[in-house]
Amino acid sequence: MNLLERTHAGFAATFGHPPVGVAFAPGRVNLIGEHVDYNDGLVLPMPILAGTAVAWSPWAEDQIDAVALDFGNARDRFTIGVAQPHQPADWRSYLRGMAGCMAERGYRAPGAKLAIAGSIPRGSGLSSSASLCVAVGRALAAASGTPARPPRELALAAQAAEQEWAGVNCGIMDQMAIAAGNHGHALLIDCRNLSTQQVTLPSDWAVMIVQSGVQRGLVDGHYNQRRNDCEVAAAAIGVAALRDATSEQVEAATLGPTTRDRARHVVSEIARVGAAVGAIEAQNLPALGMILRASHASLRDQFEVSVPAVDALVRCLNTAIGSNGGARMTGGGFGGAVVAVMRSEDIAQVEAALHDGYRLPDGSTPLLMPA
Ligand code: GLA
Repeated sequence: MNLLERTHAGFAATFGHPPVGVAFAPGRVNLIGEHVDYNDGLVLPMPILAGTAVAWSPWAEDQIDAVALDFGNARDRFTIGVAQPHQPADWRSYLRGMAGCMAERGYRAPGAKLAIAGSIPRGSGLSSSASLCVAVGRALAAASGTPARPPRELALAAQAAEQEWAGVNCGIMDQMAIAAGNHGHALLIDCRNLSTQQVTLPSDWAVMIVQSGVQRGLVDGHYNQRRNDCEVAAAAIGVAALRDATSEQVEAATLGPTTRDRARHVVSEIARVGAAVGAIEAQNLPALGMILRASHASLRDQFEVSVPAVDALVRCLNTAIGSNGGARMTGGGFGGAVVAVMRSEDIAQVEAALHDGYRLPDGSTPLLMPA
C-alpha cells in the first residue's frame, strides 16, 4: 500500500466512512543556501518524493477530529480558535497551529475529520514539520470548498504555525519549497520578497539523499541561537539583514570571533547560491561540486552546525563522487541527511563506495535515495 492508500484506509478504519479527499505535501531537500533564509537571503531547495498525506472530510464548523496513523493512532479533538499549543510540541502543536493560523489569515475555518500519515524520516532535516503543516493546510482549504489561495499564503501560515505554536523561529524556505515547488526541479527563492524561479537540473544529473543515521536532537535552542547571532552581527554592521552585508563590511565591523564567523558563513553562502544557479545553467557539474563542498566546510567550521558523523559521510561521498559533483549536509544541521549531486551513471559506483567506506551509527550501510 502506498502512502495515499494507507492514509485513505486509516481514515476509513477510524471514522467508519471513506474520506472525501486526500491532500499531500512533500518534504524538501536543500541543494544550497543553508541558514540564510532568515537573513533575507537566497536559497535553492527541491521538493522530494517523501511527504505527508492528510485524508479529510468536512465536519462540524470549527471542530477538528484528527488521528495520527504513525503515532499509534493517537487522537486530537479541538475547536479552532480555542485550542492552545500542545506541550511539549509534537504533531498536535503543528496541527492546531496550522488550523489556528489559517483561521487568523481569513481562511474560512471549516471543521474536518483528518487522518494523517507520512513517509519522511523524522529527525532527518527533510522538513517533516513543514510538510505536515502544508498538507494540513491543503486538506483544510479543500474541506472549506473555497477557491485555492496562492502557495505563498499557505507557506506563511505554515511558518507562523511553526514559530508561534512550536517555538522554532524558523525561516520561510521549507514552507515555500513545499508549497510552491515542483517535483524534479529546484526552486530559487528570494527570502526577502518571496519571489521564486524554477531551476531545472540537466537530465543526466542525479540529486540523492543519504541519511546519516544521527537524528536531529533537541536542537531548537541551537537554531534560535544561530538566528540570534546573525541578528547581532547585522545590527553591529548596521544593515537590516546580513543579506545586505558585504565580506568587507563583515571583516571591518566590531564583532566577537564567533559572531564574525556566523556572518562570514551567511555572506559567503548567499554568494554560493548565485554561483550554484550559474553552474547548473551552464551544466557544469564539477563547478557545482566545488560549491557544495565549500558550503559544507563553511557550515562545519564557521556556522558550526554539523556533527562528526555527518562530516565523515560527506567526506566519503565526496571521495566517491570525485570531481563530477559533490555532497554537503542539508537542512538545519546537528545530524540528519546529506545531499549529493552526481552523474546518474555514477550512482551505482558511489553506492558501492559507501558500502565499503561508511557505517551508520547502528552498524548498517547507508542508502542513496533519489530526491
Ligand atoms: C530549518 C529551518 C529553515 C532553514 C534551515 C537552514 O530547516 O526550518 O527555515 O533556516 O533550517 O537552512
